[in-house]
Amino acid sequence: EQIEKGGFDHFMLKEIYEQPNAIKDTFRGRLRADEGIVKLSSVEENLQKFLNADRILIVACGTSWHAGLVAEYILEEFTRIPVEVEYASEFRYRNPIIRKNDIIIAISQSGETADTLAAIKLAKEQGAFVYGVCNVVGSSISRETHTGSYTHAGPEIGVASTKAFTTQITVLTLMALRIGQAKGTLSRADFHRYLQELDHVPQKVEQALEHNLEIQAIASKYKDAPNCLYLGRGYNYPVALEGALKLKEISYIHAEGYPAAEMKHGPIALIDEHMPVVIIAPKQEHYDKIVSNIQEIKARNGKIIAVVTAGDVQVKKLADYVIEIPETSDALSPLITTIPLQLLAYHIAVMRGCNVDQPRNLAKSVTVE
Ligand code: G6P
Repeated sequence: EQIEKGGFDHFMLKEIYEQPNAIKDTFRGRLRADEGIVKLSSVEENLQKFLNADRILIVACGTSWHAGLVAEYILEEFTRIPVEVEYASEFRYRNPIIRKNDIIIAISQSGETADTLAAIKLAKEQGAFVYGVCNVVGSSISRETHTGSYTHAGPEIGVASTKAFTTQITVLTLMALRIGQAKGTLSRADFHRYLQELDHVPQKVEQALEHNLEIQAIASKYKDAPNCLYLGRGYNYPVALEGALKLKEISYIHAEGYPAAEMKHGPIALIDEHMPVVIIAPKQEHYDKIVSNIQEIKARNGKIIAVVTAGDVQVKKLADYVIEIPETSDALSPLITTIPLQLLAYHIAVMRGCNVDQPRNLAKSVTVE
């Protein structure tokens, strides 16, 4: 097992560090930025269906559901197709409305999650076209869907999903770019700019990983916190949910993710000097709004750990700790902002003596209902 961990203390850490290469593997044969080409064979073969789609319905569970939420923002922005994201377990039990030109996308690392599989079967019975995004080749979901794309992230052993999440987002970004190009909802200039930028994502993930030791030091300050709040806006709202999920899964600290602007409708009541707040605050649209959220937290003595763009000045003045990430466009930022949150959860869990790779009560794939 030590050999399989490749010199890392845990599979989870190994898998966090594998992300630059995992994302490159997801790109392989699909992204040729310099030639302005992005293609997923299953999207090409069904391009007309995507161009005619009235709606995309994403079904998934757990971390894959969070990848679906990120994809909702990206797909709607690039393709202007309305997207809805549902927990597979809710979808399957509630007689959902599926119309003729709806496309169902099922996201699953393992390809074995019982609820996701059942949701697919239900959608197929109602005549829907079902597209799968799976990591495990030949898995039940990859066989049950009409077509799909593999993430090619390689085996993920740690129960808490890391590289599967970022590669799911990568596949769905490639899909959104191609549909946006074909539909003309994405300008030529934007299309090419995103291709170039996407090509640099593995390198930026690498740079984000370089802050590991700082993150470990921050973890040592908050390892005994009973609660933790995660906030983000827009594309980074689902990242806040995922950051909170990572922390609760492996460290057993109660954590909640929230859209930053919703803080005033509830979570703000929880903020005092004992409440650490992780806030994803890269320099992007509505940055000023995030800054004012941070001021509100500070006014209530909350402890602020902020993920910021390198060179940030404003948030740095307010936060107790900042973690820098390289600059990215808003739409691609989740692939980078996720990294420090994975590392933070990891270090806190290790310091609390938790079984990081196999947290209590959780399973890598949930094949029961
Ligand atoms: C379990 C795992 C999670 C995973 C979820 C969905 O709860 O512990 O890490 O996100 O199942 O799994 P899937 O294989 O369908 O992505």
